[in-house]
Amino acid sequence: MAVEDVQVASPGPREVLIRTAAVGVCRSDLHFVDGTYPTALPTVPGHEAAGIVEAVGSEVHRVRVGDPVITCLSAFCGQCEFCVTGRLSLCVDESTKRRSTEPPRLSLAAGGDPVHQYLNLSAFAETMLVHEHACQSIDPAMPLDRAALIGCAVLTGAGTVWNAAKVQPGETVAVIGCGGVGLAAINAAAITGAGRIVAVDPVPEKLELARKLGATDTVQSGEHTAEELLQLTRGGVDHALECVGRTSTAELAFHALKRGGTATVVGMIPPGEEVKLPGWHFLAEKKIQGSLLGSNRFPVDIPRLVDFYLRGKLDLDSLVAERIGLGQVNEAMGKLRSGDSVRSVITFG
Ligand code: APR
Ligand code: ZN
Ligand code: ZN
Repeated sequence: MAVEDVQVASPGPREVLIRTAAVGVCRSDLHFVDGTYPTALPTVPGHEAAGIVEAVGSEVHRVRVGDPVITCLSAFCGQCEFCVTGRLSLCVDESTKRRSTEPPRLSLAAGGDPVHQYLNLSAFAETMLVHEHACQSIDPAMPLDRAALIGCAVLTGAGTVWNAAKVQPGETVAVIGCGGVGLAAINAAAITGAGRIVAVDPVPEKLELARKLGATDTVQSGEHTAEELLQLTRGGVDHALECVGRTSTAELAFHALKRGGTATVVGMIPPGEEVKLPGWHFLAEKKIQGSLLGSNRFPVDIPRLVDFYLRGKLDLDSLVAERIGLGQVNEAMGKLRSGDSVRSVITFG
């Protein structure tokens, strides 16, 4: 990635121009930057942001100039089968994008070649031009550098617990992978009143953070993690959440279940890789499911998460490892590759 000037169009009728205050560097960005997942180029990555509304189009009613907002890549149309059945995160309707006959939202120079908007946002930038259904206004008391994390990692982790797994009070949960997403899942499970919450990660510092956020037990992952989990929980957990993005950890999630348990795969497993499961385990009514961005309904979820933070129940402060400038974005990606720290958050002065 190189830091360059890009032209941003004026808001169309349903678009919102946002001055970015902060944007988190997420592992999903790394998947696209490293080419594990495809994306159209050239592009501006970044998708975990918060900012202030600077201008709105003529038909925008959900936000006003001056509103603090959190963005979300799950732009929803509000009319398709998925939207009207309450599954907003599955909407892929093109109406939230500009048509190919219209001038692009982003371009290299005025009237020049388009810059593809990444995940409906392109947030590693001072300014974002998004559909009004890709952002949510929030309580002005919310600090924006921590608000940014709610837009992806926290919405994903917490949404997985509440919307996808639907963890009930007292149920046991294993969270595999304690990065931004996994730690948010642990925190959400604790808020819900889950029973035992077992954190799994190879990095001891991550396990320490996991305890701080509500894990009751920790397992440093290695060769015999599945056996350790089964022993520790006396036969498995009700819910196992895969928050890494690997086939081996998806399989581990399934193996960590008790009879009737559900594994939820949150991480982005590279295309072409296959998950292998012992077929006879389905007779024990074990289930495995995917969840996209916490199966979010972000206009409802984001204000609730902000509220949990402001009431001291959601710990976002521990997730931010460092605040950096846009120029250090490549270094932050490097840190994700080596995998030791939690979140780098880019802030704009
Ligand atoms: N078992 C358990 N944990 C592991 C393993 C493993 N085999 N390998 C890596 N991890 C841990 C890392 O140590 C790290 O703490 O998984 C965590 C991943 O955290 P981040 O890199 O911060 O990733 P995060 O942003 O939380 O995203 C997790 O969800 O949205 C997707 O694309 C994202 O696939 C990624 C996943
Ligand atoms: Zn993300
Ligand atoms: Zn839709």
